[in-house]
Amino acid sequence: MNIMQAWVIGNWKQQPATLQAVDELLDSVIKRLPNGDVPLCNTMVIPCHVHLPAANSKLTNTSVALGAQDICAFSAETGAFTGDCSAAQVRDAGADWVLVGHSERRQYYGEDNDILLKKLRNALSQQLGVIFCIGETKAQYDSEQTLQVLEDQLSVIQRIISEHASESNNEANLAERLIIAYEPVWAIGTGKVPTVEEVTATHSHIKQVIKQYAGAAGELDNLCVLYGGSVNADNAAIFAQADSVDGALVGGASLNAESFLAIAEAFSAAKASNVQ
Ligand code: 13P
Repeated sequence: MNIMQAWVIGNWKQQPATLQAVDELLDSVIKRLPNGDVPLCNTMVIPCHVHLPAANSKLTNTSVALGAQDICAFSAETGAFTGDCSAAQVRDAGADWVLVGHSERRQYYGEDNDILLKKLRNALSQQLGVIFCIGETKAQYDSEQTLQVLEDQLSVIQRIISEHASESNNEANLAERLIIAYEPVWAIGTGKVPTVEEVTATHSHIKQVIKQYAGAAGELDNLCVLYGGSVNADNAAIFAQADSVDGALVGGASLNAESFLAIAEAFSAAKASNVQ
């Protein structure tokens, strides 16, 4: 039985357009939170960098966590990297987590395993938690290469695990600061979703691969693996009932407080029925 808390995370991408709309969306989320939180389900929102300080002020003393969408690969603190924000800077702006490896970063900004490894190291060096995104394209899905593609993307995590093990310190720490999000590229923003059987099999494989990387220590046995790609208030319960789905990374539906929290409630209800 898996009684770990679920995570439902809203990746707002390049939205909303204004600070006022950010304020309104967060007010709406906070107002709807029953007793201040969603039982058995952690929630997080991930606005764009310029909206982090305002979101941080709104979310102080709430149960909603705050993440950043990206960090600089080349410096964890300061440097001559025009246009980039570092792990230390997003942390100072209020983020406790960061997305790394989102398919839009891989696709439009050419981020490969080398860049993503640097970003992971920088995030962890500044005590940021990481939501590491992986997923296959439609062509890879159609040619049944999904697991192979995911293993290649997860090799970055293998490096991080071995670096942490050799630092003889904090794999337990790593377990608290690492979430994997499986997002098939073809399901993002399309309204298409894999079947729950497919997601279950893929998540079990991801957990197995990471367990092998972590070896005997076992601290990553309870790794949190989220599903992302066209999750909405109507389909969330189906994914929530699958034992290997520990939550959701939500794009479009997270821009509406009602649907965002309906997704969190679906995971909360599934966890509650597991506990009983
Ligand atoms: P959608 O929920 O809009 O499909 O986006 C998913 C996503 O990319 C979250 O990171």
